[in-house]
Amino acid sequence: MLHKLFLTLPLLSLICLAVASPLEPRAPVPGLIDALLNGVLSTIGQLIKDVLNGVKSAQSGEISTKPLICLSSVDKCCIWYDVSKDLTGRFKGADGQCNDNARAAIRMGFHDAGAWDKYSTNGGADGSLLMDFGEIDRPENNGLQSIRLILREVQQKYKVGYADLAQFAHNHATVTCPKGPRIRTFVGRKDATKAAPKGLLPDVHDSADNLIQLFANKGFSAHDLAALVGAHSSAKQRFVEPAKANFPLDTTPGIWDVNFYNETLQKPRDERIFVLPSDEVLSVHPKVNDEWKSFVGNQPHWNEDYAKAFVRMSLLGVDNVNALSDCTRTLPVARPNGK
Ligand code: HEM
Ligand SMILES: *[C@@H]1O[C@H](CO)[C@@H](O)[C@H](O)[C@H]1NC(C)=O
Repeated sequence: MLHKLFLTLPLLSLICLAVASPLEPRAPVPGLIDALLNGVLSTIGQLIKDVLNGVKSAQSGEISTKPLICLSSVDKCCIWYDVSKDLTGRFKGADGQCNDNARAAIRMGFHDAGAWDKYSTNGGADGSLLMDFGEIDRPENNGLQSIRLILREVQQKYKVGYADLAQFAHNHATVTCPKGPRIRTFVGRKDATKAAPKGLLPDVHDSADNLIQLFANKGFSAHDLAALVGAHSSAKQRFVEPAKANFPLDTTPGIWDVNFYNETLQKPRDERIFVLPSDEVLSVHPKVNDEWKSFVGNQPHWNEDYAKAFVRMSLLGVDNVNALSDCTRTLPVARPNGK
């Protein structure tokens, strides 16, 4: 059955090529993932489509221990049980909360995948930031040097793909934080062959309208953006205001909670936190503010919206969605009550 499908797909595209008029300019860009999900889909392609359309949850509690006999030629998840265990040791603090490596890994997953938009011919969730194309020296990636080296060490040890590792580490770190969502986790991406395009990551001093447009070009709504920046619930800053280095962006950076949404709206602010200028302008923007407020005191709402938006993030620029594997079962268990 699958066999047949993979034979038919290239045939179909050949026919399409033959039919297209030579004068018609062919789109030079891959476009949003939604277009890819309109054709004939494998089981995994259908699952991804259902998640992106909200038909299925973007979170899953499916869990398993590594089978005694695990043939990596058949089960693409085998190695990820080992990676998962390794990352737990690196991301979980003695206090049970997620640590500095975890928050950096959360940001890493975003900065690798997010350097892409619908006009890009490369970039996205391709591991380029972990690889050797010089992206780590771009100013927007300052602070990610140490987690990059850690993840490169993990890559060396387990020989997994860079692209998959960046996203797996994000999802692992997220669920390692108490209350964090257990985001559906796919592997099988292709690694980059060059650096991601420049200028596609958000500038902390940009206007809310520009930030909303930047994310719209990646396929995210203003409400998706409201959910995504909630990752700052687990964040600290060092370079926006060096005098306040290591100030957290909410009072509980070791916990994936909705305090961030509440605390950024409070006036006066808790003086122990630092609010990024971008979060400041987004939180009060008319296209974002309603959703921002709706997350206050509503952890399940935020977790689901974040997970759904991040599944999309983790697949930006990925063109082989039908050939991916679902390895969510290798992630640590979620701790919705923080214990
Ligand atoms: C408007 C969009 C965004 C802007 C302008 C932005 C900007 C920033 C800035 C300036 C920092 C502090 C860097 C430093 O001084 O050390 C930061 C930290 C962080 N960001 Fe964002 N960010 C955005 C969206 C996101 C998204 C979508 C995610 C994840 C999905 C994310 C995850 C993080 C994390 C986890 C940290 C903390 C890193 C650490 O403590 O090591 N950010 N962000
Ligand atoms: C929001 O924060 C304020 C100030 O810390 C606090 O009094 C209030 O209870 C919080 N509200 C929610 C819903 O967490």
